[in-house]
Amino acid sequence: PLLQDAFGLTELEERIRNHYGLKQVIIVPGDSDASAHVKMELGRAGAAALRKAMKEANAVVAVAGGSTMAEVASHLTSAVPMKGVWFVPARGGLGESVELQANTIASTMAKKTGGQYRLLHVPDHLSEEAYQSLMLETGIVEIIQAIRAARIVVHGIGDAMVMAKRRKVDEATRQSLVSEGALAEAFGYYFDRQGRVVHKMPTIGLRIEDIEQMETVIGVAGGKSKGEAIDAVLRYGHEDVLVTDEAAALQIAEHM
Ligand code: F6P
Repeated sequence: PLLQDAFGLTELEERIRNHYGLKQVIIVPGDSDASAHVKMELGRAGAAALRKAMKEANAVVAVAGGSTMAEVASHLTSAVPMKGVWFVPARGGLGESVELQANTIASTMAKKTGGQYRLLHVPDHLSEEAYQSLMLETGIVEIIQAIRAARIVVHGIGDAMVMAKRRKVDEATRQSLVSEGALAEAFGYYFDRQGRVVHKMPTIGLRIEDIEQMETVIGVAGGKSKGEAIDAVLRYGHEDVLVTDEAAALQIAEHM
């Protein structure tokens, strides 16, 4: 454990919860940057938080992609099939590999819980023209409506430049992210240190205003390297539940 006994995880959860005005903070011990086991525990805790939020029968859950969400999906279970729950990807293609795409994670979650899912098939890096014509497709309009009807969103958080690299964004975009002070990334939006949105990925699905109206926003992210990014997204101010690990939480506490 990284913390001394006198200063427990529960106290740290409470301090973070109060500081950012969150409903709930869950911290798992350790550092998921350094241990696959801790990352698994983070996924397990994320799954528990999601299950709790999904209590109502007919929830639509919008899910993001990434390796942390993949861990959440692999730990999601349900004793009775949740037939009335729909899992949908939060946004279209963001340049992730298939295993890490929101579509894949939404379908895994549905299979693991006995729920339903719908997929959103759109290419990465949409041009304005492609965007406009996609929005005229009936099938796309329907799934977009389903996504915007979501009451719960569960998402990962990443470091802005790490994500830009993983998504292979072009050099010009990378440069502008740097000059805009992008520090964090979540659901295709980039945030600066103060939690202001400085850039968005050109795709369809949830808009930032949909996130702001959402009943329950659950962020799941850990690892010492993500502390600053998590702080930036919390400053943005629309998270309800944070599931993180000890190493990230200690970094967050330094920024509070
Ligand atoms: O690309 C999807 C996404 O959820 C991003 O919004 C987020 O920054 C990232 O994945 C987190 O990925 P990981 O859990 O692998 O660090």
